Amino acid sequence: MVDETSIFIGASRKPDDSYQRAEALLLRYGNRHGLVTGATGTGKTVSLQILAEGFSNAGVPVFCADIKGDLSGISMMGEAKDFLVKRAGEVKLDPYQFQEFPVIFWDLFGEQGHPIRATISEMGPLLLSRLMNLTEAQEGVMNIAFRIADEEGLLLLDLKDLQALLANIAERADELSARYGNVTKPSVGAIQRTLLVLEQQGAANFFGEPALRVADLMRTTRDGRGAISVLAADKLMMNPRLYATFLLWLMSELFEELPEVGDLDRPKLVFFFDEAHLLFEDAPKVLIDRVEQVVRLIRSKGVGVYFVTQNPLDIPEKVLAQLGNRVQHALRAYTPREQQAVRTAAETFRPNPDFDCATAITQLATGEALVSMLEDKGVPAMVQRTLIRPPSSRLGPITPDERRKIIAESPVAGQYDQAVDRESAFEILRKKTKEAQEAEAQAKQQNSGGSRWTIPGFDDVLGTGNRRSSNRQTVAEAAIKSVVRSVGSSVGRAIVRGILGSLARGR
Ligand SMILES: Nc1ncnc2c1ncn2[C@@H]1O[C@H](COP(=O)(O)OP(=O)(O)OP(=O)(O)O)[C@@H](O)[C@H]1O
Ligand SMILES: [Mg+2]
Repeated sequence: MVDETSIFIGASRKPDDSYQRAEALLLRYGNRHGLVTGATGTGKTVSLQILAEGFSNAGVPVFCADIKGDLSGISMMGEAKDFLVKRAGEVKLDPYQFQEFPVIFWDLFGEQGHPIRATISEMGPLLLSRLMNLTEAQEGVMNIAFRIADEEGLLLLDLKDLQALLANIAERADELSARYGNVTKPSVGAIQRTLLVLEQQGAANFFGEPALRVADLMRTTRDGRGAISVLAADKLMMNPRLYATFLLWLMSELFEELPEVGDLDRPKLVFFFDEAHLLFEDAPKVLIDRVEQVVRLIRSKGVGVYFVTQNPLDIPEKVLAQLGNRVQHALRAYTPREQQAVRTAAETFRPNPDFDCATAITQLATGEALVSMLEDKGVPAMVQRTLIRPPSSRLGPITPDERRKIIAESPVAGQYDQAVDRESAFEILRKKTKEAQEAEAQAKQQNSGGSRWTIPGFDDVLGTGNRRSSNRQTVAEAAIKSVVRSVGSSVGRAIVRGILGSLARGR
């Protein structure tokens, strides 16, 4: 049953605990998503590691977050430690071979991997609002800000672009309210303050260019293995909202950029979403709906999404229902909520007459799990008590030196390491303000010197006391128009991207 069309996961056990048979994930159902759950220390990360290894060996690129740094070992050759060799014997993994995997390290903060950046416009108003935890009114203003940027051809790349735009909007609040609806100074001010907090948390590194190219996550090596992109997430986890928003953005980018492919013999990319509960914690319903939608639709793009979390109750039911391949490690059942989680987890499996699912979940050993993968016709297999195979790569973290070496030798070395700051909203608005100020100064000068020489019918040119303000407007307007021209009309419509961004606009 285990061959090049599947990934070996481990061996299921008979009721007397003896070997039953090999358990495997069928690659052709790899895009039907999956779920790895279990309490702390029960083996989730190792399960993720062996799945990532399997996908890579099958030529499937993998993206995963490394919350504790212990997944980084996947980039190094494993070692024949006694307990690993013993486990290999128990699951009849013979020969047990060691391997290092082609890893690309990424880090939103650019410290433990290549920097990952996205532009503000790619992120879109919905995700930004979620990232900044905005109220509904503030989110409305954010939507308007994106519309204005769009209409006035202002590129939103980094945080200073958004800050400059908001400052501009605050100045024009009355005019804009008349055009788009309520744009109050307090709500703009509130967004500006939240932006400052975001900046203090280090998000400034993340917004800007060069933005991540999805193609760089889809690499394969010359010997046909899929690259494993490992996102350093230990520091990122201190800002869970940024973490969740980022991964959501990435998913929507993948969705946006990849073509429809229908059923394939293996996925095009597999995406592991560790600490997945962060995605849904106090998320507004609209966002949960979008996630559900992206997860449902991304399948036909050949992308498999695997959620990793402690408790299956962390995942909304509609999303849970789409996760076909399940690995359930042990759960504790002390509190009523824990007991509820055990029951829910047990009920989602196709029962096995050999054992009681709920009881088994509380008794599983470390590195043991209830496993049910999709089998023929995409139907979930009967649940099996399964010992998970040991990894071929190193168990545990790598050293900083090892990491540096891999980063230096990576196929994207040099591509993302330097930020680029091209002309965008911040620079344009600054220039515009300067031009407006100069024009005003000039008009003042002309006024003071020339008012005595006013020629009837030429008020507009020379300006008078009560004409001056409208004259200034004209100059500012002219500046905006010239900016629109110089940025080019192609930017106009395409400024807001991403399924989450574009759907939000349709609301
Ligand atoms: N399949 C396995 N083969 C061999 N050893 C394993 C296996 N799975 C887990 N272990 C052992 O159990 C330890 C803990 O596993 P792991 O780090 O995967 O737990 P976890 O569920 O990710 O924990 P946490 O929630 O704290 O991140 C591993 O370091 C390893 O020693
Ligand atoms: Mg872990």
